[in-house]
Amino acid sequence: MTAPEAQINNIIEFTRSSVKSKRFSHILNVVSLSHKLALALNLNPTDAIIAGYLHDCLKEEKSTTLVSLAKQYQLPLDEIELANGHLLHGPVASLIVAKKFNITNTEILNAIAYHTLGHPAMSDLAKVIFLADCLEEDRDLDYTFPIWKTLLEPRKLANAKNAKEAKNQITIISKKKLNKKFIANINFNDFNLNINRAILVACNQNIKYLMLENKIIHPRTIKTRNYYLQNP
Ligand SMILES: [Fe+2]
Ligand SMILES: [Fe+2]
Repeated sequence: MTAPEAQINNIIEFTRSSVKSKRFSHILNVVSLSHKLALALNLNPTDAIIAGYLHDCLKEEKSTTLVSLAKQYQLPLDEIELANGHLLHGPVASLIVAKKFNITNTEILNAIAYHTLGHPAMSDLAKVIFLADCLEEDRDLDYTFPIWKTLLEPRKLANAKNAKEAKNQITIISKKKLNKKFIANINFNDFNLNINRAILVACNQNIKYLMLENKIIHPRTIKTRNYYLQNP
């Protein structure tokens, strides 16, 4: 077994033992989607797998535990994070796993830290984890449809013999077409990927949901939204 393989096995076992099976199944979906997105964007697929497995490893920790761990690590905290410790499961996880698995790659660590609230000017890896977390196949499809529709810009396939055939080959995503099977079998090479626009729509969807549910909105979600509005 090579070193990265051994490390990934340790990471998988750590995550599997830290969360309930339903959460682990969400994590597996995020790993699968982030791996595919990373390949489509020519990013390091192993980094996407590692960040995918670790992004929610502390999701089931109590809010009070996350706040005290954040304080131990001297993470600067705002009032909203102090009152809603669950928002810290990404940032605290990034600090813990850096030490536990000797991860020094800041792109992996930031992708884990930023996956809940997003961040202006994220690295491509952080964008991939943020989107895969929003879009994995078990998410509500009414919620994810506007994000998918923005992410997947139809592309004419190169092997069309004439204009009519090219038109027929355009892959248009419709609400009817979007289901678990479509997501599981998606070939990102059939599309141009509008990553930044999709992050904007994902932030809009998150903000709409938080407003409807009368939940607090962290200013970083707004900052992320505004950044990707201005940087499409
Ligand atoms: Fe999370
Ligand atoms: Fe997640």
